[in-house]
Amino acid sequence: MGAAMTLGGCGDPAKSQDPPIPQGPVPELRQIAPFPVGVAVSTLDIADPQLAGLIARQFSQVTPNWQMKMEIVLREDGGFDFSKADEIAAFARANRQRLFCHNLIWHQENPIAFQRLDGGGRDVFLNAYRNYITALVSRYRGQAVGWDVLNEPVAEDGNGLRDSLWSRNIGVEDYMLLAFQFARAADPDAVLLVNEYNLENNPQKLDTFLRLVERLLNRGAPITGLGNQSHIGIDTQPGASTRAMQALAKFGLPIHVSELDVSMGHRRLDLRSPAQKEALQSRRMAEVAEAFCALPAAQRFGFTFWGIRDRDSWLQRPPNGDGTDAPLPFYDDLRPKPAFYAVADVFRKA
Ligand code: XIL
Repeated sequence: MGAAMTLGGCGDPAKSQDPPIPQGPVPELRQIAPFPVGVAVSTLDIADPQLAGLIARQFSQVTPNWQMKMEIVLREDGGFDFSKADEIAAFARANRQRLFCHNLIWHQENPIAFQRLDGGGRDVFLNAYRNYITALVSRYRGQAVGWDVLNEPVAEDGNGLRDSLWSRNIGVEDYMLLAFQFARAADPDAVLLVNEYNLENNPQKLDTFLRLVERLLNRGAPITGLGNQSHIGIDTQPGASTRAMQALAKFGLPIHVSELDVSMGHRRLDLRSPAQKEALQSRRMAEVAEAFCALPAAQRFGFTFWGIRDRDSWLQRPPNGDGTDAPLPFYDDLRPKPAFYAVADVFRKA
């Protein structure tokens, strides 16, 4: 009897928390949700027939994972290479998905063509800056539903704004304002967003971000949406994602959950079982979904996962990880995880 109890796992608290494995067909998020459900994809993903099928079935919006970033699009000689970005745009068209473009200006992207102009005078730099933004936005005008115009402008610790190639050559907030103005001139219809992260975990950063958005709007920046990346973890405090969402929503602008993943962490001394961690992951993802679904319909721009299956996540590769994380909604064999079902349940009630 005692042995049977041990073998049966009755003594393991994690086991008793295991959610039942759902039966029947896998729910399709794009059919269930009354708003766009997106995913970040790479050209490798869409070239894999199994993955491509899943992306087409589940999602109504795609964001290029890195194919529209400066390092890919802007060649050393200042010319453009849109080949990879175009592949993703064509995939979206073929599958009747919205194309969400990411991103125009980011402190992490400092390509040679711009480095060459560093310190060479504001006018020359600004001219190249305008040309870059105009070229990208014009190319996808008519297809792109929106752009992350400005990515991660707030300093890492939340105190003040980032110093970057852009701020140094154009001006601390001028580079932001001008990016929005150039993007608007190139596409009158696209939703233009500022996209930021760690707004749940760092109240100072949230505050700095909100004040920045307010100042830019007051200066006339055509910001028409806010992106909350939502790279969170299983230890993100319950309620933190909800509070950040509500604070962001106060501007009345559409909100994009733009890069959702929930890290399971890499701590060697984590005594929690995989099942316990998956249950926490489900709760954290469900909270983000609930907070998003609680927004007025006009403010639900979209709900985007930063990838499909665990092994392809950016959190698996150095410097962000060592291959032991599992932050995404699908297992490597493409079975949906408990977190996927938790989000689907929330969407069903929206
Ligand atoms: C990551 C991509 O997923 C990686 O493939 C790439 O190498 C680095 O960038 N915030 C962002 C995204 O806005 O662009 C980042 O994406 C993840 C953090």
